[in-house]
Amino acid sequence: MSETVLRVELGERAYPIHIGPGLMGRAELYAPHVQGRRAALVTNETVAPLYAERVEATLAQAGATTTLRIVLRDGEAFKTWESLERIYAQLLEAQADRATLIVALGGGVVGDVAGFAAATFQRGIPHLQVPTTLLAQVDSSVGGKTAINHALGKNMIGAFHQPVAVIADTASLVTLPPREFAAGLAEVVKHGAIHDLEFLAWIESHAQELVAREPRALAHAIRRSCEIKARIVAADERETGARALLNFGHTFGHAIESAAGYGTWLHGEAVATGMALAARFSARLGRIPAADAQRLVALLARLGLPVDAPSFPLDTWLEYMGRDKKNEGGRITLILLDSLGRAAIVKDTPAAALRDFLAAG
Ligand SMILES: NC(=O)c1ccc[n+]([C@@H]2O[C@H](COP(=O)([O-])OP(=O)(O)OC[C@H]3O[C@@H](n4cnc5c(N)ncnc54)[C@H](O)[C@@H]3O)[C@@H](O)[C@H]2O)c1
Ligand SMILES: [Zn+2]
Repeated sequence: MSETVLRVELGERAYPIHIGPGLMGRAELYAPHVQGRRAALVTNETVAPLYAERVEATLAQAGATTTLRIVLRDGEAFKTWESLERIYAQLLEAQADRATLIVALGGGVVGDVAGFAAATFQRGIPHLQVPTTLLAQVDSSVGGKTAINHALGKNMIGAFHQPVAVIADTASLVTLPPREFAAGLAEVVKHGAIHDLEFLAWIESHAQELVAREPRALAHAIRRSCEIKARIVAADERETGARALLNFGHTFGHAIESAAGYGTWLHGEAVATGMALAARFSARLGRIPAADAQRLVALLARLGLPVDAPSFPLDTWLEYMGRDKKNEGGRITLILLDSLGRAAIVKDTPAAALRDFLAAG
């Protein structure tokens, strides 16, 4: 399986995404960013025993003067202020300075917290992402969104801060638990659903290979997802327009994650159900044929993802969906489908239709 380099074209903040097996141990990929500097490896208690030593050894080979290891507790429930504070404290104790490079090794939780620490420590230091979950490799490590959760809403505190590079080692996915792997496939499907019908059809015809983690199929899915995400981010870094399309399934999904309690549903699982709901609601509004919504739902189910909404009271749905960052002036903004492969930002979602839809469960 060959390796690929993509670029996120953001002018002076442009950076490479390296994708391929064994890349976390390749010193030359880190060297331009770490030579002569100190590195702070931020990871968690699950990923550290698997991969931290290898990355530390590679950082040393790449010319890092020293490497500090910061290990967070594992899980969405720890995407919090306390974890962030632990990073700041260890950086300060070790007298980290503005030239220190933060290396985020782990899934989207580690990437988001470490990225936010990098965005804010001494008003901003560089960070490099080494994503080790499928979700992080196809989505969260790319694009510069960093955040922690608040008890009242997901990703409510954060910053835009692009990494200096993304090193996605596809071999690291072999240790990923099946539920986590399926959750990552949800964001792969999302990229097809919003932007690329041909890719969506490819996922349908390779669903079995993907579920079996067949390396060639997996490499294609990661590459195409990163291409789509990189293009959308390059066109709209700060989400003043088209980048919001990447939120397909996320308004419903974030409500599910927050209302159920962080960690009950995996992010990707909530997004899968959120996409199923957004597709069904698109059909309800007459934007797409019901058969197209069903086609997307069937694909998600084949990939082992949940597609049925939890039975929250209507008020719970509206309360959590009402806190979405896309909303303006108290109106709920949704990403809906105009067809499979094409999504739209809908700012004037008919409130009565949404209530009826949610109340019907
Ligand atoms: N910043 C963004 O643009 C963006 C986009 C999508 C999602 N996210 C965020 O990403 C988070 C979800 O990320 P996630 O799905 O990676 O979850 P996660 O970070 O919780 O990782 C999932 C689990 O897998 C473990 N793990 C990680 N790598 C492993 C490996 N190689 N082998 C074995 N176990 C491994 C982790 O310790 C964890 O238990 C959410 O908080 C979501 O909001 C952010
Ligand atoms: Zn997501």
